[in-house]
Amino acid sequence: MKTFYITTAIDYVNGSPHLGHAYEKVLTDVIARFRRLMGDQVYFLTGVDEHGQKVQQSAKKRGIDPQAFCDEVSQEFRAMCAKLDISNDDFIRTTEPRHKAVVSRLLQQLFDQGEIYKAEYKGFYSTRQEQFLQEKDRQPDGSWPEIFGEVTEITESNYFFKLAKYQDWLIQFLKDNDDFIFPRYRQKQVLEFLAEPLNDLCISRPKERLEWGIPLPFDAGYVTYVWFDALVNYYSAVEDKPGIWPADFHVIGKDILVPPHAVYWPIMLKACGLPTPKSILAHGWWSINGTKMSKSTGNFVEPMAFAEQYGVDALRFFMIREMSVGQDSDFSLNQFLARYNSELANNLGNLVNRTLNMTNRFGGGVVPASGASAAEIAADAALAPERELRALWEKTRAEFIALNEGFQFHIALERAFAFVTATNRYVEQRAPWKLGKSTEPADQALLKTSLATMAEALRLGATLLPAVMPSTTEKIYAVIGYAPAGTWRDRLVWGETLTGAKVAETAILFPRPQAPEAGAAKV
Ligand code: ME8
Ligand code: MG
Repeated sequence: MKTFYITTAIDYVNGSPHLGHAYEKVLTDVIARFRRLMGDQVYFLTGVDEHGQKVQQSAKKRGIDPQAFCDEVSQEFRAMCAKLDISNDDFIRTTEPRHKAVVSRLLQQLFDQGEIYKAEYKGFYSTRQEQFLQEKDRQPDGSWPEIFGEVTEITESNYFFKLAKYQDWLIQFLKDNDDFIFPRYRQKQVLEFLAEPLNDLCISRPKERLEWGIPLPFDAGYVTYVWFDALVNYYSAVEDKPGIWPADFHVIGKDILVPPHAVYWPIMLKACGLPTPKSILAHGWWSINGTKMSKSTGNFVEPMAFAEQYGVDALRFFMIREMSVGQDSDFSLNQFLARYNSELANNLGNLVNRTLNMTNRFGGGVVPASGASAAEIAADAALAPERELRALWEKTRAEFIALNEGFQFHIALERAFAFVTATNRYVEQRAPWKLGKSTEPADQALLKTSLATMAEALRLGATLLPAVMPSTTEKIYAVIGYAPAGTWRDRLVWGETLTGAKVAETAILFPRPQAPEAGAAKV
């Protein structure tokens, strides 16, 4: 069986991790965990992008060596993954020897094949920003904005990769693989981009301009320019591990789809004679309170502080519940708190508390055997509420898996929580607190049926959640005395799984969140 190989973009370490980085890791983690639940063998890679101008500048500003700077910042990204319960198998840094060796080797191979040539590049250069400018950088009157300082036209020799020669191949590849990019409409955008002739790709920077990079193996006067270095991480991390390459999914943000991932990367691999990835998932962008995330305006969410204050699973839940994969979304504390209260605390949390409470009060803390058999529930008119809840479960289970397979996680979660809502409604309808006061044998049997039903429904509802809320699922399992066995699909079958299970006295899953002004996380 081929390993399901999934990756995130590797983040630039010129700043600390933000909500966009956190989202991408959580989204990828949800897919990885879902595939594992479905029985796949999964390999999940994430990491950091450490070379380039911005990192060199940030290190200089701090007065430290770029490597020391990267060591420090990459640690923050690694810590964020741990904090957010990301189940990655590996974490790659582009300054690691294992990565640099593969980049050098592939460059040398392409150079030997005649795929890389040297040519003069002429353009407008900003010495202050240390970058070439584009025509679109000009102001309406044709002048260059103040921030670029003095701008001069210079000519520089650089190395170019023969991208253009693969244009027709790529167009055909995209036509043959019309599900290469998710969401599908983005594949059209790539084809539109390819309607114009491609330029060859500049893959070098002279050492005098940029030192912090991987030296070109065939010319020590140059370093490798960003994408040829960064994209290779997906391959360099697993080259020595059999059965992993090609990637099944590269999860990235929409800003780096065209051209880097959808154009450069498949062509680079093709030119190297390596298999191309199977698909790319491009997610949308988060804004914060309706505006672009920006450190300078303070409109910024620090994922670590936020998770510390409101709970890791609550943050994971919110991001996945709120964003439709591929679309943009807005993050606001009000919306977060609204979902926290209505869906987590008052719906799921409430069902857990009721189940424990009722089982302790009327079952001596042990889930009783149902007072009615499955056959009776299927046939008896008086047992319609039980029958309906089971029917809803069957529908929910079938839809939930299909929705997850189609990356519709926000709708899948909505369905899971609709089942929890229906279970709460069922409890209110049966009112075990009333049945418990009656000594009638029929009422006593119905009491047992209702306690068994609510416990089983809670177990099943929780079983839909581990990909998004891994530790919440564990906590629920623990307090209802459930030790999961068998495959995930086995666990999704309604049965008498919990008969005889000892439940906990109480559980606090979703404490009342602190007032926003009390904590460190700013939104
Ligand atoms: O682009 N909402 O790094 P990066 C959602 N090093 N996602 C966001 C976001 C937002 N507001 N802001 C950024 C790079 N992202 C390169 C990648 S891959 C070989 C090299 C996402 O730190 C962004 O779309 O600027 C990207 O997928 C990821 O965060 C890293 O962005
Ligand atoms: Mg970026």
